[in-house]
Amino acid sequence: MKKPIAGFSKLSKSEKIEWIAANYTQNPQESKKILESYWNSDSRLQQLHDEFIENTISNFYMPMGIAPNFLINDRLYAIPMAIEESSVVAAASKAAKFWEGRGGFRTTVLGTEKVGQVHFIYHGSTPKLLDFFKNIKPTLLSEAEHLTQSMQKRGGGIKDIVLKDKTGELSNYYQLHCTFETQDAMGANFINSCLEQFAETLKKEALAHPDFSEQEKQLEVVMSILSNYVPNCLVKAEVRCPIDQLDLTQDISPRDFAEKMVRAVEIAKVEPYRAVTHNKGIMNGIDAVVLATGNDFRAIEAGAHAYAAKDGTYSSLTHAKIEGDLFSFWIEIPLAVGTVGGLTKLHPLVKLNLEILQQPSAVELMQIMAVAGLAQNFAAVSSLVTTGIQKGHMKMHLMNILNQHNATDKEKEAILAHFKTHTVTHRGVLNSLENLRK
Ligand code: MEV
Repeated sequence: MKKPIAGFSKLSKSEKIEWIAANYTQNPQESKKILESYWNSDSRLQQLHDEFIENTISNFYMPMGIAPNFLINDRLYAIPMAIEESSVVAAASKAAKFWEGRGGFRTTVLGTEKVGQVHFIYHGSTPKLLDFFKNIKPTLLSEAEHLTQSMQKRGGGIKDIVLKDKTGELSNYYQLHCTFETQDAMGANFINSCLEQFAETLKKEALAHPDFSEQEKQLEVVMSILSNYVPNCLVKAEVRCPIDQLDLTQDISPRDFAEKMVRAVEIAKVEPYRAVTHNKGIMNGIDAVVLATGNDFRAIEAGAHAYAAKDGTYSSLTHAKIEGDLFSFWIEIPLAVGTVGGLTKLHPLVKLNLEILQQPSAVELMQIMAVAGLAQNFAAVSSLVTTGIQKGHMKMHLMNILNQHNATDKEKEAILAHFKTHTVTHRGVLNSLENLRK
């Protein structure tokens, strides 16, 4: 029978490891060995990681790969990607190479606006509240000035505060809907600090407002928090080429291929079951760059999927069309990311990855990420409409199967050679391994 523990966070790292290994694992000695084998030998670096979160006991590694040859607005990039899924970097690299020979990717940033809200409950007259808000808006802004000065120096700050009457959706519910420009920062801390200040000013001013009744003065702030839904922090990335250049494989004519691509995207537009998987493939590319650059992939995921449902049905984030002899394929996606603050100066690999990406501004990073998503989607959908996904996927997964069965280097060599000309299946790989070991 397991018992709860009090004061776990106060234990030393080795005490935490002792406790978890003894209480939750079958073989505590072996468990401790595994946890310690992932520690960094540089104690300073290990301490840095330990201090990122609470109760750290080890590091969780992910492979980091490079997808080279991305031509974006005539500039070449090699994109670092942190991801565990076998085929993602290979697919991105393949799509990058393909489009590099066809003019590359074109990108445009359509907006950089971030959002935060103060949600509050007010029992009283709406016209009086609107009037009150009009009066206090300058105070809301001036009392946040101590927070906004350095952001303003960098060209950012608060863009606007709007009072929204949400009582149609929920009784007595109103909000301050606030928009921000945060330049190269993702801006979560800046936005949340401003919002908490707005909430303080709002409560203070309501209490002092002479036209409010006693009940109206007791305006209740429920919460103040940024929104990860950022439909106006938007980037577009596009590829296009004459159809006859879509000569990916001998098995299908370029026009048939183009039509199949368009049809596949149309299906993802109208069928949510397909759209979710279609967009998951896009996020394979985007999340890998988000992680490698120390950004918040949960925020990006949440915002991207909300955007995919913005018209009331969950739909594709990419689009495709044929106009005469021209094939175009593009993505429009909200991406609120930063290249300063957060882990960017702290995590040595993040710093290095930003250097590899030629020290992008946040706006440039949005473009690189959108391209990674588009490339990934192009690779996935082009496989789906031609050979099917399993051929390439299993080829990449082959090494995982071999490692799972402790194949030696010699066995790997022989089996990799065999599967150059045979279809990879789990059973097939095991049979080959068994035959070799006989
Ligand atoms: C697998 O991680 C991603 C795909 O399922 C994406 C797609 O179906 O478009 C291959």
